This record gives sequence, C-alpha cells and structure tokens, in this order.
Amino acid sequence: MMKIGSVTIDNHTVMAPLAGITNLPFRLLVKKSGCGLVCTEMISAHGLFYDSRKTFKMLESDPFEKPVSVQIFGSDPEIMAGAAVIAASCGADILDVNFGCSVRKILKTGSGSALMKNPGQASALLSAIRKAISIPLTIKIRSGWDASGNQAVEIAKIAESCGVDAIAVHPRTATQGFRGKADWSIIEAVKKEVNIPVIGNGDIENPEDALKMTAMTGCDGVMVGRAAIGKPWIFSRILSLSRGEVCEQEDFSLHFKAMIRYLDASVKYIGEVHACRMMRSRLGWFVKGLPCSSRFRESIKRIDTHDTALDIIYRYMESIGIDPEHFSQRGGE
Ligand SMILES: Cc1cc2nc3c(=O)[nH]c(=O)nc-3n(C[C@H](O)[C@H](O)[C@H](O)COP(=O)(O)O)c2cc1C
Repeated sequence: MMKIGSVTIDNHTVMAPLAGITNLPFRLLVKKSGCGLVCTEMISAHGLFYDSRKTFKMLESDPFEKPVSVQIFGSDPEIMAGAAVIAASCGADILDVNFGCSVRKILKTGSGSALMKNPGQASALLSAIRKAISIPLTIKIRSGWDASGNQAVEIAKIAESCGVDAIAVHPRTATQGFRGKADWSIIEAVKKEVNIPVIGNGDIENPEDALKMTAMTGCDGVMVGRAAIGKPWIFSRILSLSRGEVCEQEDFSLHFKAMIRYLDASVKYIGEVHACRMMRSRLGWFVKGLPCSSRFRESIKRIDTHDTALDIIYRYMESIGIDPEHFSQRGGE
C-alpha cells in the first residue's frame, strides 16, 4: 500500500502520464493489470479554466480506475488554481502538476520543465493550488533544467514546504529530453531530503528494474511509462516479484487479452469510428516480439469496425496457433 495525503493506493505501482496514450481506455487496461495509481495525460489548465469542451472530455473517468490522478500543466497561479478546482470538482482524487514536459510549445509559456529553473514561480503556483483544493497535490519533476545543475532537490523541498503530498522524479534534465540514461541517484537524493512519498521513474523496462530502483533509491513507489505500452501486465509482474514470487514466462494469451480489452474499452468510451481509427496503429503495440507481427501490423490498417478488428485479431491468433475459442467472449475472458 502507498499513501498520498488522504488517499490510500492499493500498491506502490504507478502508470506514468503519457500524452496521447493514457486516455481512459488505456488507464482501465493498466488498472486491470494491477497498476495501483493511474494518471491522465497532461491537461491544459488554460483549456479547463476557459471552458474548452475538448479539454473537459479528458477529465472523463470511470469508478473502476479510482483513485485517479489528474495532471495539469500551466504557469499562471490563478489559472492553475482555478483548473485544479475544476479537476477536483469533476472527480480527480489527486491533482498532479507537470514540471517535466520539455516540448518547446509548453516551455515557451513557462510551463512544464521550465518551472524547474524558476523556483519562485514554482512556489507561487503550488501555494495557490494548495490553497484552492483539499485533495492531495503532487508534482512530477525532472532532475533539472540542464547539466549545469540539479534542481530536483531544491524544487522538491519547495514543493514539500508548499504542502505538496508526493513527488514523482524522472531523473533526466529538460534539455536531455529522453536521451541518455535516467540517473536514479537523483531519486535517492530527493528521497533523502523530503518526508513525503517519492515515486521513482525512468527506464524501468522490466519488473526486475522496478525492484532494483526501489532497492537503490529507497523510493516509495515506482512509475512505469513506455514499458507499459503494449505490455500492461508489467504491473502485476512487479507486484509478484515484490512478493518474492517467481514470474512465469510470458505467454501469448496475455497479449491478446490486453489487445481485446483495450479495443473494447476504446469503442465503449470514444466511439467506434474514432476507436477504429486509433486501433489501426495502436493494436500494433501489443504484438511486439510475436511471430509474423509485421503481417498483423499491415492488416490492422484495414480496421473500420469493431467486428473487423476482432476478426483480424482472431485470424492472427489462428495463424500463430492460438485457439480464438478461448477468447470468443469480448474482453478475452
Ligand atoms: C509519448 C510520451 C508522452 C508523455 N507525456 C507525458 C505527460 O503528459 N506528462 C508527464 O508528466 N510526462 C509525460 N511523459 C514522460 C513520462 O511520464 C515518463 O516520465 C518518461 O517516459 C520516463 O519514464 P519511462 O522510462 O518509464 O518511459 C511522456 C513520455 C512519453 C514517451
């Protein structure tokens, strides 16, 4: 179990916010795979504050995924506080602030990882949000702006003094983007300096890495991003390994269960037309490492209905020697 402010989370695993990926169907999938805490993609505080319908749709949630953390980005304290109130009133259990995005468009507005080099702004922003909402407040930071300095500890201490309840650390600098290796020693340094939970993130590629990160840094939780795309079962495997159990070999059925679940949830929550368009590339996530996967990737480009998608999946299963009968009920169970 992990506690973030007043919210108790079943276990110490967290799905990283991934823009364009961690929508509601994806969150339900990882939740079903054992993930303790899910987080929305980053949501524009400006969009919420000024009532953009498209932005509001990103707050949609489902009781099964609870507790859910809503991540917002922005730099204006008043707008961020207003957006936080809206997110809380729409059902967010935890409010997370993005201190990590390094996309130029976001940086230009002083948001995301630009906040790592502006402690004054960071403090003003977090104080304003803390005053405005009573749900737990968290931040997700990088190690700093560039290699000249490590601002993670400074920002973490400021955050704690502003009443932030937990900190996720992705230890790469903003200028580094996703290059190089995440420097886990920075997670350890933050953990030593604050008394609130620290969630480690960066380059967890398999369950063993999650255990290694916990042992090396003393972090309270582990956050997985890219490794969960197409392999959501990484969460249940981290939990098994943490309990001292041996992880069995991955079998093909895991891939298909996840794929069908994701397809069904996408159709349910975003509508058949839009979901099918997305599935034309996204179902490819789930077949990495499977035989004849390039043929499958080619065939999913034809998906135009829910039934065509299922048909293509079942045919592929048959072609690699799996009996689709086991999966004939939607949801793969
Ligand atoms: C496609 C993509 C989208 C991302 N979107 C967000 C986001 O919306 N908010 C955020 O804080 N971090 C975002 N990140 C960063 C991840 O949350 C995470 O910190 C990073 O991928 C490192 O973790 P990993 O090595 O487990 O993937 C994104 C990363 C990727 C690859």
